[in-house]
Order: sequence, then structure tokens, then C-alpha cells
Amino acid sequence: MKIAVIGTGQVGSVLGTRWAHNGHQIVFGSRTPTSQRVLGLVEKAGPNATATSPAQAVMDAEIVVLAIKYAAVETVIKQLGDLSGKIIIDPNNPLNGDVSGLTLGTTTSAGEEIARLIPQAPVVKAFNMTGAIGNMANPIYGDQRLSMLICGDDEQAKAVVAGLVTELGFEVVDCGPMTSARYLEPMAMLWITLAGKMGLGGNIGFRLLTR
Ligand SMILES: NC(=O)c1ccc[n+]([C@@H]2O[C@H](COP(=O)([O-])OP(=O)(O)OC[C@H]3O[C@@H](n4cnc5c(N)ncnc54)[C@H](OP(=O)(O)O)[C@@H]3O)[C@@H](O)[C@H]2O)c1
Repeated sequence: MKIAVIGTGQVGSVLGTRWAHNGHQIVFGSRTPTSQRVLGLVEKAGPNATATSPAQAVMDAEIVVLAIKYAAVETVIKQLGDLSGKIIIDPNNPLNGDVSGLTLGTTTSAGEEIARLIPQAPVVKAFNMTGAIGNMANPIYGDQRLSMLICGDDEQAKAVVAGLVTELGFEVVDCGPMTSARYLEPMAMLWITLAGKMGLGGNIGFRLLTR
């Protein structure tokens, strides 16, 4: 698929590189597409990856990943132009400045606010509730795989995103409509608390057990 990954931080780098290695066409959308850092990322991602401005990156994309700080999402979305016909992946968490909590919750979520900002395209929440460096890079724990809880209001878009999540090694759990982002975003805060404050580190993750 043609995937625009907007943002070349932790989430964008890992997802773009892994999908490029899987054969997808990746265009990183960056504020500094010709910087040594971004050129190094493109080289690591290999021949299926390029980098350009965010507005250029989305032009031919079927999928757009908004791997940006939530505080900057609205500004960046305005720069992207018309996103109709594309599927938007939202991995964002509305973290406060010192990452001690969320700035939104219980009655709305970053996912719902982003969906409101892009009424012309389906938005799917995915990748928000686990760490990028350890778990998005490798969600396999022995003979188990981590769950990736996703949600969104468009079933077809969610099915496409579920495929992209599954191919990275996660087991997808569909949590229903975008209002479930109200529960997925606090899960990210719990993961951050366990990994950081509670000292468990980044090699921890959630899995839904069933019987
Ligand atoms: N890190 C994780 O483990 C993790 C896990 C799950 C979810 N998330 C969420 O996913 C989102 C991305 O997280 P991240 O860790 O990848 O963030 P990050 O490392 O800080 O990277 C964010 C990227 O957004 C781009 N950007 C564009 N406009 C920006 C602006 N005005 N200010 C700052 N950055 C701007 C930058 O890419 P360019 O410089 O190339 O433009 C930057 O590298 C966040 O909402 C985060 O809460 C993170």
C-alpha cells in the first residue's frame, strides 16, 4: 500500500521502517525531509521509502499515519490539504507537557477530536496503547503476541488498518467505535506509568486473554 507517515519521531520511524521492509511504499512527511536525521531514517527503511514535506507526502497516499505530538496535530492536519479517499491512522495520546497525565478524557478523546477535524476521511485509532521502540518494533513475547486494541467508526477502514497491524505481529482487538478511544488513551497512560514510574521498562505490553 502507499502509506504516508507524518512525523519521523519514535512511532513514525518504527512503523514506516517496518512497513517499508514489508514491501509497502512509504513516504515520510517531515518538517526537515533533507536533514541528516531523516535521510538516515530513509536509508534504514530502504528502497521502498522516501521523505518529503507533509503536504507532498499525503498526495498519493492511501493511508496517512499521524505520528505527531497531539498538541501539534491540528496545525499539521491543516497543512495536509484534502484527505478524502484516504484512511487516517491515529496513534496519538493527548499527553500533558510533563507526561504525567492526559489533557482530555472520559467525555471525549484525541481520537474523536481528530476524527472531527477530518470529517472527509475515516480515522482509525491504532498503535496508541503500547511503546514504539520495544513493542511496535517487535510485539512477539516468546510464543505470545501483544494485543493491539483499535477502534473507529468505519468498518472497512478498520479492516484495512487491522491488516497493517497484524502484519507487524500484533493480535488485533476491535474495540468498536471511536468513542472507545476514551478508554484506549488512558491505557497508554497506564503503560507509560508502568514502564516509567514503576520501573518495569519498555519491554512490557498488554494482551487480551480469552477462553
Ligand atoms: N513513543 C511511543 O512509544 C508512543 C507510543 C504510542 C503512541 N505514541 C503517541 O504517538 C504520537 C507520536 O509519538 P512519538 O513518540 O513518535 O513522538 P516524537 O518522537 O516526539 O515525534 C513526533 C514527530 O512529529 C513531527 N512533528 C510535526 N510537527 C511537529 C510539531 N509542531 N512539534 C513536534 N513534532 C512535530 C516531528 O517529525 P519531523 O521533525 O520529521 O517533522 C516529530 O519527530 C504522540 O501523540 C504519542 O503520544 C507514542
